[in-house]
Amino acid sequence: MVLLGDVFPNFTANTTEGEIDFHDWLGESWGILFSHPSDFTPVCTTELSKVITLLPEFKKRNVKTIGLSCDSVSSHMAWCKDIKSYAGCLEDEKFPYPIIEDKDRNIAMKLGMLDKDELDTAGMPLTARAVFIVDSNKKFRLSLLYPATTGRNFDEILRVIDSLQLTDKAKVATPANWKMGDDCMVLPTVPEDQIGKMFPQGITVVPLPSGKNYLRKTPCPKI
Ligand code: BEZ
Repeated sequence: MVLLGDVFPNFTANTTEGEIDFHDWLGESWGILFSHPSDFTPVCTTELSKVITLLPEFKKRNVKTIGLSCDSVSSHMAWCKDIKSYAGCLEDEKFPYPIIEDKDRNIAMKLGMLDKDELDTAGMPLTARAVFIVDSNKKFRLSLLYPATTGRNFDEILRVIDSLQLTDKAKVATPANWKMGDDCMVLPTVPEDQIGKMFPQGITVVPLPSGKNYLRKTPCPKI
């Protein structure tokens, strides 16, 4: 099992854009890999079209997107027409990101994406709705695992990428329901005597019944 902070496992795969080596395909970008139970399914269709409409936001953050579904490339190609139509694309527009073929479930198995409770018509386990975020050093930074019946919120995935990219650069953590621009928390590891130097914009210590000064807020650092 791959753990957060590990190098994300590399693999080769057939995709709607030809064969790829996952690490080569990532290049110097961040990446999100999101899996789907199967082609021509309603929730998946809404998710893949949502990714099309959010592509400018992913690009702004230097993030490449790639889907995976346990069907063949030829099935994916036919399905892409429905996804584009649902996203409001023109018929002759190229599908803007690759979808991995995983009809024998080898990649899903390797990456721990299978859901034993979700079976296809042949009784084979389908892939769950996994989301893996990989950074520009190929490190595995986040995973989300949803059951087939619950579509993902891709705005949340963008929000998480904002938090990961910000907290890589500044000694802060992002609180509940944080959005880019909101106040952040000073990391507990930052000692009191470093605050002035590290946070010239100032901090606010929130008083708490314990009397411990650990809840320290600071305006969102500019990165
Ligand atoms: C869907 O994408 O709609 C779906 C796929 C598999 C099981 C349930 C829903």
